Amino acid sequence: MKTTLLKTQNDLPKKVRSKVIELLNQNLAEILDLGLQAKQAHWNVKGPHFIGLHELFDKVAEELEEFTDDIAERAVELGGVALGTIQIVAKRSRLDAYPLNIASGKEHVAALSGALAKFGASTRAAIDTASKAGDADTADLFTEVSRGVDKLLWMVEAHAQSKD
Ligand SMILES: [Fe+2]
Repeated sequence: MKTTLLKTQNDLPKKVRSKVIELLNQNLAEILDLGLQAKQAHWNVKGPHFIGLHELFDKVAEELEEFTDDIAERAVELGGVALGTIQIVAKRSRLDAYPLNIASGKEHVAALSGALAKFGASTRAAIDTASKAGDADTADLFTEVSRGVDKLLWMVEAHAQSKD
């Protein structure tokens, strides 16, 4: 999805900016999808651990929202257009569709853990891609995002890591 590169006095070469904007927009589509998946879990979870999970899933969505803004704005800072419409998200996101017919905490923990892990892995890969492209700042942003997502994954996944 190519968009026009806007003029900027940012000294990163045009070629680097183009490549990284594309990478940021791919990541943006997926983090928007992931944020909605966390909300889907927040709204629909049921069972004995309801309140803890309901609140945790909302915290996940809130933290992802901050990263989302940083990712979108970085694309614009580099002279790009942030591609964050729902139509683009639906077309571009490589995350699995969130299941609609689950209810228990266990099922939502499994579904959201899987989505967080998949997004975390592709964000980790994006660190290298941005770094090799010659944009250390975007690599640093992806490092921050993947570290944050690892932490969120831990907080969700911990519910499934013990039988007590
Ligand atoms: Fe809510």
